Amino acid sequence: MQLLTQLGIRYPIFLAPMAGVTTPVLASQVSEAGGLGALGLGACDAYQAEAAIRATQHQTSQPFQVNFFCHRSTPMDPVKSRAWRDYLASYFAQFNQDVPNELLAAYGSFNDTPALLEVILATRPAVVSFHFGLPPKPCLQALQRANIPYWVSVTRLSEALYAQEQGCSAVIAQGIEAGGHRAMFDPLCDSGLSTTELLQQLVPRITLPIISAGGIMTGSQINGLLKQGASAAQLGTAFIPCKESAASDQLKQRLSTANGTQITDVISGRPARGVVGRWQQEIDSPIRPPHAGYPYSYALAKQLDKLACSQGVTDYTICWAGCGVTALRPLDAIPLMETLIAELQEDPYFTQGRSL
Ligand SMILES: Cc1cc2nc3c(=O)[nH]c(=O)nc-3n(C[C@H](O)[C@H](O)[C@H](O)COP(=O)(O)O)c2cc1C
Repeated sequence: MQLLTQLGIRYPIFLAPMAGVTTPVLASQVSEAGGLGALGLGACDAYQAEAAIRATQHQTSQPFQVNFFCHRSTPMDPVKSRAWRDYLASYFAQFNQDVPNELLAAYGSFNDTPALLEVILATRPAVVSFHFGLPPKPCLQALQRANIPYWVSVTRLSEALYAQEQGCSAVIAQGIEAGGHRAMFDPLCDSGLSTTELLQQLVPRITLPIISAGGIMTGSQINGLLKQGASAAQLGTAFIPCKESAASDQLKQRLSTANGTQITDVISGRPARGVVGRWQQEIDSPIRPPHAGYPYSYALAKQLDKLACSQGVTDYTICWAGCGVTALRPLDAIPLMETLIAELQEDPYFTQGRSL
């Protein structure tokens, strides 16, 4: 059965789950407009995750996706952590603050939080998706027994083949243009494939539906990917300016004036694409020490961002965004969905050529 029919939705337009950006109202509006809404719950504890899912279910009876981070947790390395704190000390000092003594994990992994699986089983969202890999087999078996489909983000063919083997019902194929964290299972192994290149590699080898993600801003781009074999497109950056998103006004302002993005691992400890600022242009220096690891570096970066902002300096703002940032449209969720749908329908392929 084709993906949209399986989900019971009309349009192949999926909101990307974005921790800190997606909200119940944004997710429900996208789903109500005929796409697939999403909640990025990677930074939530079980209580917060359940509250967000139930709030969304309260606002729509349409399906939506919930998403968690499945990174392999590593203990903090005290030597690396000390070196990273020493390296960032001068940046804190310019705001008259000492670098914090301790590095904290910004959040945990789904794999270490059994209560999150309980929340999924209790709330039964239409789909659960994972970023940075898949949870262990017993967890996947529990989802299978409960008939809850699961997807995973992939960045290369070998990850997609593994996802297929592990019983995923679709893969999210994340190209290098994507905003936010690169989804590789192993952060050191990045194929660097573009959204189109990845799709071209996956289509002949993967029988699962493929959801393309990365740099997609218009209905015409979505049609282009559908023609090449994608079942749907997942858009993140395009939805950040919506009033329904949780992004702050300051972040939205930064996005609206951005003229480029770049990938760096110095902010969180894993490679991620965001609007170019001091992190990419200065802190990610060729002679920097190794960062403190994910997600330990992230907590420190968030502290520096907050401190700088409190003193009116925005160069350290963590502003994840994809390559399409310069094509952003300042539209709220429903008008953006209407625009994307109208653009899709301009192409006769969408209305006549494709199978659902
Ligand atoms: C601000 C932001 C936060 C993100 N957070 C998540 C997340 O929590 N989980 C996830 O699977 N992907 C996350 N992503 C990646 C998206 O799922 C998706 O791959 C990406 O947004 C697609 O590229 P685009 O932003 O160019 O549309 C995030 C992306 C952005 C821009």
